[in-house]
Amino acid sequence: MYSPKSPDGDGPDVAPVFGAGPGDDPGYLASLRTATELGRLRAMMLVLLAAPVLILVIMPLIVQDGREDAPPWLYAPLAAAALLALLRAGGHRELAVEDPTSVRQLPMMETAGLRLVRVPVDEEGLDVAALAAGGARTVLVTPAHQYPTGVVLSAARRAALIAWARDVDGLILEDDYDAEFRYDRDPVGCLQGVDPDRVVLLGSVSKSLAPALRLGWAVAPPSTAARLRDHRAVTDLGAPILEQHALTEFLRGGGYDRHLRTMRRRYRARRDALAAALDAHLPDARVHGVSAGIHLYVELPPGCDEDETVARAARAGVAVTGARSLWSAERAAAAPPALVLGYAGLSETRLVKAAELLGQAVTHGADG
Ligand SMILES: Cc1ncc(COP(=O)(O)O)c(C=O)c1O
Repeated sequence: MYSPKSPDGDGPDVAPVFGAGPGDDPGYLASLRTATELGRLRAMMLVLLAAPVLILVIMPLIVQDGREDAPPWLYAPLAAAALLALLRAGGHRELAVEDPTSVRQLPMMETAGLRLVRVPVDEEGLDVAALAAGGARTVLVTPAHQYPTGVVLSAARRAALIAWARDVDGLILEDDYDAEFRYDRDPVGCLQGVDPDRVVLLGSVSKSLAPALRLGWAVAPPSTAARLRDHRAVTDLGAPILEQHALTEFLRGGGYDRHLRTMRRRYRARRDALAAALDAHLPDARVHGVSAGIHLYVELPPGCDEDETVARAARAGVAVTGARSLWSAERAAAAPPALVLGYAGLSETRLVKAAELLGQAVTHGADG
């Protein structure tokens, strides 16, 4: 959820909201500009439609999805939904997902007819032994920056995960949802690069530009990519082309890289401000996942009531999300009280203020 914003993002009348995505900064504005570009493109398209002969000029530019000689990557919005349908059609009954995880996508998986097997995550990431015991042959995993805990899948676990996939003739769906934002660590190599025959890499511009664009991609093993194309050809009449053109131009012209460089600096400064303020105002909390992404996972001091903290923070004017709902029913009761704080959409000043109010909410909660 995004906060309502004052023009400079610092107005005192608006409650700080820790959101899940980009906010009122150049990232968001860039996506609005992209949207404006799309408007222009649409207008251009109307002109083109009015002059059919000119369509021949634009057609060769259209993305390669569906071409016989297309490379084994697929520029594919809706790739995740199509993949789920393919898995089910291919006889898969179960899909393993991390516990905790991003729950927004779970209903889509269940609707595709897959039973979800929740696999615990520890300080090394996904528990591969538990995965193997669970019986699924496909797993959705966030190895570079586990959502929401921020854990990086360890080298030993990465090797074990690949070995598991080979052993069960399985498939790993690698969700690299915030790959663009790495601050104090080297980029973690993709699992897909380790075993391109066993891993489908999924990414999107949701964190880097705007979730509203609904643009993403899948890098899939050639046979899976071909089946995905075939599936798409009979289940929908194609993804929006103009948005893909706008993104292609943004990439080609270097605008996307420039945007990412700017946003990395900006988000790093926000991350630094929030982490320092949490250290000052919530010294007993344990902050995880700081080195990448645009959210922090904050374990509250032991004994702290998560729901009560969320409610107190809201009364103080700070909207925060509790983490318990991200766990399976089975593990939620034992889960540590924690918050997920998205910091991309707030200025440093407002982040510091929000952390201060949050600290008071926790302290007053502890005082009873
Ligand atoms: C774990 C995780 N995966 C993927 C996504 C991206 O989803 P989409 O590309 O459908 O917007 C998000 C976005 O919030 C996320 O948190």
